[in-house]
Amino acid sequence: MTKKILVTSALPYANGSIHLGHLVEYIQTDIWVRFQKMQGHTVHYVCADDTHGTPIMLRAEKEGVTPEALIDAVHKEHSKDFADFLVEFDNYHSTNSSENKELSQTIYKALKANGKIASKTIEQYFDPVKNMFLPDRFIKGECPKCHAKDQYGDSCEVCGATYSPTELINPFSAVSGATPVRKETEHYFFKLSECSDFLREWTRSGTLQAEAANKMTEWLGEAGENKLSDWDISRDAPYFGFEIPDAPGKYFYVWLDAPIGYMASFKNLCAKKGLDFNEYWAKDSKTELYHFIGKDILYFHALFWPATLEYSGYRKPTQIFAHGFLTVNGEKMSKSRGTFITARSYLEHVKNPEYLRYYYAAKLNGTMEDIDLNLEDFVARVNSDLVGKYINIASRCAGFITKFFDGKLNIESMKPLVADALGQGVLIKESYEARNYAKAIRDIMDVADRVNLEIANIAPWVLAKDESKRAELHDICSKAMHYVQTISIYLAPVLPLVSRKIAREFFGMDRDFLWSDLSEVPKSINTYQHIITRLDSKHIDAMVEANKESLQAAAPVTHSQVHHAQAQQPAAADTMVEHISIDDFTKVNLVIAKIVNAEHVEGAEKLLKLTLDIGEAKPRQVFAGIKSAYDPMTLIGRLTVMVANLAPRKMKFGLSEGMVLAASDEQGGPFILSPDNGARPGMRVK
Ligand code: 2FM
Ligand code: ZN
Repeated sequence: MTKKILVTSALPYANGSIHLGHLVEYIQTDIWVRFQKMQGHTVHYVCADDTHGTPIMLRAEKEGVTPEALIDAVHKEHSKDFADFLVEFDNYHSTNSSENKELSQTIYKALKANGKIASKTIEQYFDPVKNMFLPDRFIKGECPKCHAKDQYGDSCEVCGATYSPTELINPFSAVSGATPVRKETEHYFFKLSECSDFLREWTRSGTLQAEAANKMTEWLGEAGENKLSDWDISRDAPYFGFEIPDAPGKYFYVWLDAPIGYMASFKNLCAKKGLDFNEYWAKDSKTELYHFIGKDILYFHALFWPATLEYSGYRKPTQIFAHGFLTVNGEKMSKSRGTFITARSYLEHVKNPEYLRYYYAAKLNGTMEDIDLNLEDFVARVNSDLVGKYINIASRCAGFITKFFDGKLNIESMKPLVADALGQGVLIKESYEARNYAKAIRDIMDVADRVNLEIANIAPWVLAKDESKRAELHDICSKAMHYVQTISIYLAPVLPLVSRKIAREFFGMDRDFLWSDLSEVPKSINTYQHIITRLDSKHIDAMVEANKESLQAAAPVTHSQVHHAQAQQPAAADTMVEHISIDDFTKVNLVIAKIVNAEHVEGAEKLLKLTLDIGEAKPRQVFAGIKSAYDPMTLIGRLTVMVANLAPRKMKFGLSEGMVLAASDEQGGPFILSPDNGARPGMRVK
């Protein structure tokens, strides 16, 4: 029976680049969607940029552009990144769309009509300089528990305590640095506290993975208990988002309209494709709805979202699939280790997106456990599985079919293999269905191992030398080609390009593989062209090195973004650091430097090579990570500031004898410094 399925991945924020952590989710979802489509189901895979909220508004302001211009640029960047990783959305929309505005307002009005909206006057921190209320994340101060300085308004990164911003000692605004004041304001709330019974039932009705359901029980408490508080869904102007109907100056909190963005993206697709929106979203819909998300946003998807849908008259998700985070080499992704890798940087260095798709698939098992990208293992695995096992079958046997049999396969040899292909296929299908891709991959590679062993035993290269053995040669090589087809079908959700090439170029089909092709035998092949090349670890080393470069030389440390929730952090907060003594400061020998030469460095993505005169006999050579912001020609002759007593550092491109200072944050830069008129090379800055 064919099904109608709507699938989503979480909407990435429109204020940062897609990185390898994000890709765990999009690749996981894309594999599942491709698998379902191969089964012949009707599947719509939609996503969008999550565009609203304070961080995006402030970032646009800082860059001197409108939020609309910022989110447009990011939309293009994200769309390209996903396409290049073969993540094939049926629609990639924006939460800042007319569909989303209309749906958000309709849903809000329905919640209100159902008595689920209340308004309350609350007290919040207000930045008197910036004239705006401050989200918790934009207030910093001293942790009330462990007294660590410079902690966020909602939790301490040192001791892990969570608290409310009012408990912070000596709070300051991360936007302006001003001391925030308490101010009253009216907010709108969704009465989640009245939804406990509904949610208890919904979260236990098979909609969540076991671990997620347990988490929910913790949050919801036992029957009769009411642990849920009402949810604050409004924010005061200035805010980039949608205004609340009949509430001038009040905006929907980004997390209200973000999941509605799933519906909005689908609605936009309906208009393009002539689909029936209500068939998928009406309360009594017979279609299936699945959300893939990271475990950090479970609360929003398993509590707020189903309650919002329930009390505004829409269907609820069929299931929520939560996954864990990505670690690289066993640790959190880190800019200083060069393991905070953007999608684009991976593509520039490694090039082939299917290696990563394969590796993630080999690790993902459908649970909420974190997965690790071990870079050494990545290279070994790709080479041994894809090149050494899978493609090896084709490269060892195809030539004989072309040479001795004019590309024709022996159908009778292959027919008995169909039962095996289908039998294994049942197990592999179950694993894909359950998102246990790791098991699917193990089973697929077992098949490849078996075939390789048989080929090695029969040794077609020996048979080929003996003209009387043509029949045996034809038999084993035809069987091998049948397995090339079988394994290519099994792997098609993971390796869509490779399997397409095998289907169309190698077997001469005029379409991509379907799962049902497992019951077919191929008739002939075209000359085999090498389809997957070995991954050379030097590309990985270069990628890691390139991602480290951003920290060498100029650019100050920026936050690491490991998962969704951390992506919205204020940048200005970086400027607030703990006190040091004057002695600490004088240890740093800052001097005026004249840039006597500046040039590109071959093979370096981020570096410029600067020759700096600081009044010494011989000018210094410094590599500075400022290539993205400066044309070297425009730097020559300028004065700037450098750290002259930094230990020389041996870099891939040569010795760096100091560091040029520059300002930057996640929104812009680096900007190097210029002294006032009169400063001369070698002058001490103090
Ligand atoms: O955590 C995040 O990255 C959010 N932008 C995810 C939103 S998912 C959906 F609810 F819109
Ligand atoms: Zn603390």
